[in-house]
Amino acid sequence: MCGIVGYIGEKSAVDILIEGLSMLEYRGYDSAGVAVYDNGALDVRKKKGRLDMLRQLLEKEPVQGTMGIGHTRWATHGAPSDENSHPHTNGAGTIAVVHNGIIENYSRLKEYLGAKGYSFRSQTDTEVLAHLIDHYYMGDLLSAVQDALRHVEGSYAICVVSKDHPGEIIAARKDSPLVLGSGQGENFVASDVPALLKHTRDVYFLEDYEVARVTREGIDIFDRYGIPVEREVFHVEWDVQAAERGGYPHFMLKEIHEEPKALQDTLSPRINAQGDLNIEGLGLEEEAVRAVRRIVIVACGTASYAGQVGKYVFEKSLRIPVEVDLASEYRYRDPVVQEGDLFLVISQSGETADTLAAMRLAKARGARILAITNVVGSTISREADAVMYTWAGPEIAVASTKAFTTQLLCIELLALHMARIRGSMEQAQWQALFAAVQAIPAKVEAMLEAEDTVKRCAHRHSNVSDAYFLGRNLDYPIAMEGSLKLKEISYIHSEAFAAGELKHGPIALIEEGTLVLAIATQKELYEKMASNIKEVKARGAHVLAMCPGDAALILDLADEVIELEDTQALLTPLISVIPAQLLAYFCSVERGYDVDKPRNLAKSVTVE
Ligand code: F6R
Repeated sequence: MCGIVGYIGEKSAVDILIEGLSMLEYRGYDSAGVAVYDNGALDVRKKKGRLDMLRQLLEKEPVQGTMGIGHTRWATHGAPSDENSHPHTNGAGTIAVVHNGIIENYSRLKEYLGAKGYSFRSQTDTEVLAHLIDHYYMGDLLSAVQDALRHVEGSYAICVVSKDHPGEIIAARKDSPLVLGSGQGENFVASDVPALLKHTRDVYFLEDYEVARVTREGIDIFDRYGIPVEREVFHVEWDVQAAERGGYPHFMLKEIHEEPKALQDTLSPRINAQGDLNIEGLGLEEEAVRAVRRIVIVACGTASYAGQVGKYVFEKSLRIPVEVDLASEYRYRDPVVQEGDLFLVISQSGETADTLAAMRLAKARGARILAITNVVGSTISREADAVMYTWAGPEIAVASTKAFTTQLLCIELLALHMARIRGSMEQAQWQALFAAVQAIPAKVEAMLEAEDTVKRCAHRHSNVSDAYFLGRNLDYPIAMEGSLKLKEISYIHSEAFAAGELKHGPIALIEEGTLVLAIATQKELYEKMASNIKEVKARGAHVLAMCPGDAALILDLADEVIELEDTQALLTPLISVIPAQLLAYFCSVERGYDVDKPRNLAKSVTVE
């Protein structure tokens, strides 16, 4: 949520800021702004709307200078408007601040500052911070920021510049990510690595409560007590192309097409030279695996549906109970952490505020945390006891696709690893599943060939106002994921039901022509699903089924079919989600929406 960029060097700051913001627009896109130091003054330009609106403003009112900060916003306090856009300044316009997060005690601070004569131009919490820094400013910007932050409650990643300090940017963080990029005679700040990739791959990750002084010559980091911190430089392996559209009309389509490679990249490091499964370094050696009595999975949104798949996969293959909870619920329900729990956190970004808070709570109560995440250096990856990375590369589209399938693959690999140690699967069954896992990247590649079929389905149905997904067993989490994908980018009202629940209420929604998407991959449940399809058809539903070619019962009943590649029952989510992702994508395109930047949403939800 909200993208931040800072630059100090010899080049034109505004070009680097705008280019960096364009790489971060997925973090928020309802307004954007820059503040650039030029000849003794801070020039601020900010505009409601997409980054293009700011670009147009800058054409009319250009800024020059070699030091500045920029921001792309996802509104929390105060509606999107020119006035509420960042950067915010103190009254004299000598200090400018960009901020990601929420200052929770901003009303109290505002009152305090108001009594001291400060006046406010916006409805944001961030403006309070600009005045608070001004209040503490005695000639040293770093100290003023440190003093101001001592009075701030909530979350923040900030960049601060002052016209009286043209040689430095002050950056700080708590519960919102911030990365410092190291260059030659120039240095950078950003919320996320993609904004830096064109300039440097050498970065420092700022930790909570740390403050950094970024100058042309170097980067100094201080802890919460102002003591200098030595931080090792981290070399990012991603290349620039990975964060670009590469000829695709949208990042989402590119990322769907990257799924076979992302899956292969996630799989390969876990297979040794002898072709055997090799999961090391997760603290899941023999004794630890045998000691597991329960698995608790916590995540948000799409990642939570990966967790729901995990429930079926782990329970079936390990015969131990699994609980899956939404992080936003877990953190506020006084959860029980028991000896023998394996606590699994799933998060693409590794920065989601609720997931992080749930993880910290579980850790404080004694749980050992294993994180499945995609972002090396993210807060969750640094605070978890062990990390299993999804090697999906940067995921830029707001709607998660390749991160989801690689999360599923990690779950399958963990289940295989633990099942072998616990002896909970027969040898032959284990071998067959392991072989099928290795075939998954190719199966997903083959599934992508259904793209044109899915596109035609989207063309026929993109004008519906409601769509209902049905599934049983492992198809139920995929029904939920398909439904989330459809609603978040095409704005079609959609819900997912466990098919067995239909007659307990939801079937009342079905009328002549209602679109029902029936996912049926579990052979022993074909008959049950067939009955559910009959029930909705009897009430006028139009049924689009997603099932393998051998599901004769389903094929006979459905009005339309997207045929799925066949695989082992436990692996079907990795296949069935592909057409669901494509369907959401093409419906959004048909309806003329901005697929990669759906309304009201942003990637990496770093506020509650
Ligand atoms: C939906 C989507 C979100 C995220 C959720 C968690 O397409 O992307 O539902 O899955 O916000 O994000 P991470 O995985 O970064 O914790």
